[in-house]
Amino acid sequence: MSDARISPTAHYTATVWARNGLAHPALVGAASPWLYRGAALLLGPLSRLTGSPTVESTLLHRHHGIDRMLTRVIEDEGLRQVVEVPGGLASRGARFVARYPDLLYVEGDLPGMAEHKRRAFARAGYRQPRHRVVDLDLLATDGPLCLEAAVGPDFDPTAPTALITEGLLYYFQPPAVRAVLERACAFLGRSRAGHFFADLAVGGPDQDPLVRAFLLSVSVVARGRVLAHFDGVAGAHAALQHAGFTQAQVLPALGDARGRVDPTQKARIHLIDAAVYRSEPAHR
Ligand SMILES: C[S@@+](CC[C@H](N)C(=O)[O-])C[C@H]1O[C@@H](n2cnc3c(N)ncnc32)[C@H](O)[C@@H]1O
Repeated sequence: MSDARISPTAHYTATVWARNGLAHPALVGAASPWLYRGAALLLGPLSRLTGSPTVESTLLHRHHGIDRMLTRVIEDEGLRQVVEVPGGLASRGARFVARYPDLLYVEGDLPGMAEHKRRAFARAGYRQPRHRVVDLDLLATDGPLCLEAAVGPDFDPTAPTALITEGLLYYFQPPAVRAVLERACAFLGRSRAGHFFADLAVGGPDQDPLVRAFLLSVSVVARGRVLAHFDGVAGAHAALQHAGFTQAQVLPALGDARGRVDPTQKARIHLIDAAVYRSEPAHR
């Protein structure tokens, strides 16, 4: 699916990040209140009727969950190199570079969206030499847009690295998802310790029936089919192992910024916390 089709959802998520104090000032203008209100009209009654989490709280759980996993490897393992694809209109890169100034943070997205974000940062006068937004296509296997080339020459392939993929796998067909997992593992496997953090909706026995309605509504906004993947959590776990990850967990996406879980809430989607180590994990 092209970025022109997916970008309405990037504007929608930008609105959620802005409403919840998670957006860099340069990206607050990327919010799209009309899209947000449209989705609330469409999905709000369904959440209220069933008592299931809203789309906004689901997005916040996934965003906070990935923030917590990234913080863990930065603080516990001393990791200092991050690639996030797609960066979309999200502000994690700017937030983390402000918190950890020695972090090298490369965000990639398809050329149109990457240019849009670079312009928004430039207009706001935001410039951080260790935070870059590059043109990158996660489906490209070679050429300048492929992962290995796009991260740039100052990226150290042997240094511990985290690769984040948030809000993307839903748009790919199952073979492309498997190819992305394999590519992610091969890319990270060059380093001493590589971490892969992502979100996904699992199909099969572990799928919340409301996830179906959620994905269907995103399909309407994105004008393309948005999918659940794998046969339950066990199927997702097996796919990660098959891709080559030496450690892998598939966890319900729940919890606020501090990891506090509201026991009345049910997860709609899952988070991948996978790693490939060349040797034993290095704890500081
Ligand atoms: C729903 S947005 C998610 C953005 C961001 N991660 C967030 O949570 O706010 C999806 C993004 O995926 C990007 N995208 C689509 N296909 C891609 C691909 N093959 N490689 C890299 N980015 C892609 C789109 O341009 C869009 O910015």
